[in-house]
Amino acid sequence: MKESKAMFDLEKHNTFKMKVKAKNGLFINTAEDLNKVDTDKYLILGSGSDVLFVDDYEGTVLINAIKSLEIKHEGNFYKVRAGGGILLDSLISELVDNGAYGLENLSAVPGTVGAAPVQNVGAYGVEVGDYIESVEFFDLRTKESGRLLKKDCLFTYRHSIFKEDIAKSWFITYVNFSLPDTFTPNFTYKGIEGEGLFSAKAVRDKIIALRSAKLPDPKFVGNAGSFFKNPIVNKETVDAIKAQYQDAPVYPFENGLYKLAAGWLIDKAGCRGITKDNAGTWEHQALVLVNRGGAKPSEIIALGKYICAKVKEKFAVDLYPEVRLIGKDGEVFWQDL
Ligand code: EPU
Repeated sequence: MKESKAMFDLEKHNTFKMKVKAKNGLFINTAEDLNKVDTDKYLILGSGSDVLFVDDYEGTVLINAIKSLEIKHEGNFYKVRAGGGILLDSLISELVDNGAYGLENLSAVPGTVGAAPVQNVGAYGVEVGDYIESVEFFDLRTKESGRLLKKDCLFTYRHSIFKEDIAKSWFITYVNFSLPDTFTPNFTYKGIEGEGLFSAKAVRDKIIALRSAKLPDPKFVGNAGSFFKNPIVNKETVDAIKAQYQDAPVYPFENGLYKLAAGWLIDKAGCRGITKDNAGTWEHQALVLVNRGGAKPSEIIALGKYICAKVKEKFAVDLYPEVRLIGKDGEVFWQDL
């Protein structure tokens, strides 16, 4: 375990490229390293692709760098135990090469394996929770290891138990997946079906191409993917929007509710491709807020608030961030900013 200097630079550890610092930073290379963590003020971080630091963080950042990987073939399934610090896309690439299928629709989703279950990462009709068998963690408060079976992870849209208070001290060490050894394409998401997609590799390549056409590459443009969640609304709200725009994208959700496309709402509210100070929205996908270069956290927040106001004014719908917001003492809430 490597201890860094007093002020730990976070610029390379957040894909929004905010120039922020933490008091300290530790790379966790093995689960055993976690026994040595002796502070109560910590933030667990993967590759920083789903956070907006709104300030310097006055504690220790624990960076998940557990990278071991075991793949076993049992019956018709591959049982995979993947270290939380592995990049999700590297894992998917390896799985597709090995004939372990199911996660290919999540190709090119940024972030680590350990972060994936936290917000139940999803794209193109697949959520990571669909293929998780269990999640292993180390509780930094009790110093004990634990494991949750899928049913106890409470996976829903962009949510799981790992986002709740009970899990605040849980560091995800390994994720166990169960993946079929036969390829069955999942084309439930409109737009990915098509000629020639007979293999997981072909689906993976298509999704990588789709994502790179729509989404900015954080290597070049600071961003954290979708900034807001797709809002869940009732039928009256849907009817009011459909009365204005018959073609509004609406997806049935659970319990008689509906999911709207936040990117579409932002676009129709006139906010696609806009720039305010050094913050902007992506030209090809309005749901992605971008750092146009040297943006401060306050500029991203101001743009986000402006978008929320515009969407509320036009559609009477509230948007809430999908990214986690981190202030000087830890997670903060949009309503309080
Ligand atoms: N749309 C517009 N204008 C825009 C953006 C979108 O009209 O500027 C329309 C699209 O044409 C489409 C609909 O809105 O009809 C939905 O857009 P898209 O298919 O791009 O998907 P999304 O709902 O905006 C979600 C996830 C993405 C994921 C894609 C594909 C959320 C918050 N976002 O986006 O996840 O890649 O579906 O499955 O659920 C992420 O979480 O960071 C992320 C990128």
